[in-house]
Amino acid sequence: MSEKPTKARVLALWGKGGSGKTTSALAIASLSATAGHRTLIVDADPQRSASEWHSVSENPAFAVHSTDVGQVASLMERARARYDVVIIDNPPACYAGSAEIAKRADLSLIVARPFRFDVTLAIEWVGRLQRVGTIPLVALTAAPPSRLNTEPPSVKAARAVEAGRGFIVASADYASAHSPRTDSTRFGRRQYGQQQPRPP
Ligand SMILES: Nc1ncnc2c1ncn2[C@@H]1O[C@H](COP(=O)(O)OP(=O)(O)OP(=O)(O)O)[C@@H](O)[C@H]1O
Ligand SMILES: [Mg+2]
Repeated sequence: MSEKPTKARVLALWGKGGSGKTTSALAIASLSATAGHRTLIVDADPQRSASEWHSVSENPAFAVHSTDVGQVASLMERARARYDVVIIDNPPACYAGSAEIAKRADLSLIVARPFRFDVTLAIEWVGRLQRVGTIPLVALTAAPPSRLNTEPPSVKAARAVEAGRGFIVASADYASAHSPRTDSTRFGRRQYGQQQPRPP
């Protein structure tokens, strides 16, 4: 009997604007590709930050495909056949297809900075995702570093609020430790303005 073809694992990222979804998507994709998995980021955000990063990166180890939010579900199913890991970089706001995407994904990751507005929205996202029967993971990003093995008060408070409600909260340091270079001055060797060949 022939072996069943492997199907991609799909990770969907959710969270407040600027919380670090795209940076986390790039970091996770980079780790995944380095581990030998065929990896795709589905860039569902009209801001196209992941696509922008990809277009100026030298020999990126993973693919980025931009799409409208209305096309994410069908693209996700097609991508499952060609990739091992598919990461959906969502826009900050909830959209018509969010629930369906969350249901179909293998894991939802809510990204939040350890600040009140982010935590409040993360809690909303947890409720939203739990209502469609998924168990999301929450990751704190952009957290001040721990000193002498002590977490900064903002991280402790955010963790307490989230963990107190029974959420699974990932380490705050994972994204910082693996963040790709996303600031414009260290975008890799190709710089802005060098993407198009110069006219003769
Ligand atoms: N773990 C981190 N530590 C420090 N800074 C971070 C971290 N993750 C992201 N950032 C910074 O925060 C800013 C916003 O990050 P990013 O664009 O990834 O957020 P986003 O959630 O995708 O935003 P949007 O909702 O607008 O798409 C960027 O300047 C990024 O470099
Ligand atoms: Mg983004």
